Amino acid sequence: MTIMVTGGAGYIGSHVCVELMRAGHSIVIFDNFCNSHREAVNRIGVIAGVSPTVIDGDVRDRGLLASTLANYRCSAVIHLAGLKSIAESVSDPIRYYDNNVYGTLGLVQAMRDTGVHKLVFSSSATVYGAPVYLPLREDHPLAPCNPYGRTKLMIEQMLGDLAASDGSLKIAILRYFNPAGAHESGLIGEDPRGTPNNVMPFLAQVAIGRRPHLTIFGKDYDTPDGTGVRDYLHVTDLAVGHLRALDALERQDRIKVNLGTGRGTSVLDLVEAFSAACGKHIPVVFAPRREGDVASSYASCDLAQQILGWRATRDLKAMCRDAWKWQSSNPQGYGDPRSSS
Ligand code: NAD
Ligand code: UD1
Repeated sequence: MTIMVTGGAGYIGSHVCVELMRAGHSIVIFDNFCNSHREAVNRIGVIAGVSPTVIDGDVRDRGLLASTLANYRCSAVIHLAGLKSIAESVSDPIRYYDNNVYGTLGLVQAMRDTGVHKLVFSSSATVYGAPVYLPLREDHPLAPCNPYGRTKLMIEQMLGDLAASDGSLKIAILRYFNPAGAHESGLIGEDPRGTPNNVMPFLAQVAIGRRPHLTIFGKDYDTPDGTGVRDYLHVTDLAVGHLRALDALERQDRIKVNLGTGRGTSVLDLVEAFSAACGKHIPVVFAPRREGDVASSYASCDLAQQILGWRATRDLKAMCRDAWKWQSSNPQGYGDPRSSS
């Protein structure tokens, strides 16, 4: 089966490509590299032993999408291409609606034009907004509190309408919790541009000496140690979840599931685990809560187990070990002069 992976050069997409290729699928990466590096594609090839096909394109280019789907006879699309910075979505919402919502509209039109019926979409736990109860089940109320989250919810709704109108469509919506870690080889991983927003890449950059300390946002939450609790899941487990979703679409037309571990980890727990993994003390500084943050968020994973037969198998120790392997082998990420050697 040939699968188009939009955003396949990005953090999660690169790991999805590796797992797809390991499972014997051919892939076509469709990415405009607005938030990724071409070197990531070379690394995917090194891990998989075969160079993936890459189309340098924007998902808002419906014609190029359609010709790519047709030329490579793709039978499914995994759609990860999107912008994901919450702060940027607040300051420049048009860019987010254009890229994420309009981009997905172009994609589904191109799929219709070329008779491609299977789609797996990257949504986010951010669609739930502040938890009313925990763990978060898929039927929890949806109330995203920023433009980024609203683009994800709008896309979910658009895909729901499409599925209702066309019985031949098979659509899986995957709501990711907090992806973390890297491929066990240390060849691919998360390489955010500028200052990382998320805690794991920030921690890794402190450990490697690129930043002096981790700022912990809030120590007065209603959690066991006062710091925020999240559901971190290994990016390889997350990638495998996409394979399981593709398989499950053979049995079921519409899927909407959380991908998480069901376990909550506080920021202080994470610092301790990362420190153990890298063998270094991680300096921390406490600061006030970050706007928009919730005390705790973690998934109910029952539906993923039931529908996909999937559950996360890698623990926090593995996430920290692999994140550190990636960071220590590539101190400056893919931009490191040693990266291409
Ligand atoms: P990423 O930025 O590393 O990857 C996204 C990829 O999409 C990049 O390679 C980028 O160049 C590409 N892209 C963006 N806009 C494009 C466009 N218009 N046309 C073609 N390519 C485009 O991000 P990621 O962390 O790998 O996230 C992948 C997806 O998962 C995103 O849709 C994101 O919203 C979603 N998600 C991520 C997280 C997370 O914590 N990383 C959590 C929940 C959901
Ligand atoms: C963030 C996004 C969320 C998105 C998710 C995965 C916000 C408000 N939410 O979630 O929509 O789905 O990423 O991409 O940005 N922390 C620190 N110091 C830091 C960074 C984070 O203490 O430098 C803390 C946060 O307060 C939080 C925890 O670490 O308690 C995790 O933060 P982060 O990695 O940004 O993920 P989320 O907030 O869950």
